[in-house]
Amino acid sequence: MRIAVSAVLAAFSITCAAAEGATTAAAKPGTWAEVQPILAERCVECHGPDKAKEKLRLDSAAFTLKGSKHGAVLTPGKPEAGSLMKMVTLPDGHDDRMPPKGARLSEAQVDAIRRWIAAGAPQ
Ligand code: HEC
Repeated sequence: MRIAVSAVLAAFSITCAAAEGATTAAAKPGTWAEVQPILAERCVECHGPDKAKEKLRLDSAAFTLKGSKHGAVLTPGKPEAGSLMKMVTLPDGHDDRMPPKGARLSEAQVDAIRRWIAAGAPQ
């Protein structure tokens, strides 16, 4: 699975680089490719194929857009609207903060998620 995901990401980076003549493989801002590694590292253990707390999966853009058993966790184009942004920006010690354990997401990681939602949460 990890190999398949890497292959897809590599293919995606190559496609982007080819399309833009870019020399870097870094994901473009506002793309799922930029957000996916952050969610994979910090969220998917509880919101993925093995465990899906609140029936929320964050291992694909489509699942993330689908939301939880309570409905959508974000509104494309409106980064401040949904529970996802709200929960990753809560202060340390708050019961609802995501992820619930370990360090908060860094400002750069929160910014990447915000940019992706502001860009309309493209898949
Ligand atoms: C250790 C397990 C764990 C991790 C890691 C985790 N979550 Fe959660 N998440 C939960 C649990 C349990 C709930 C439901 C209870 C609660 O709200 O605290 C939840 C609820 C949520 C909800 C609310 C869903 C709804 O509609 O009720 C969102 C949004 C969410 N998580 C996003 C994230 C994001 C984004 C990350 C990564 C930055 C993350 N979570 C990481 C366990 C986790």
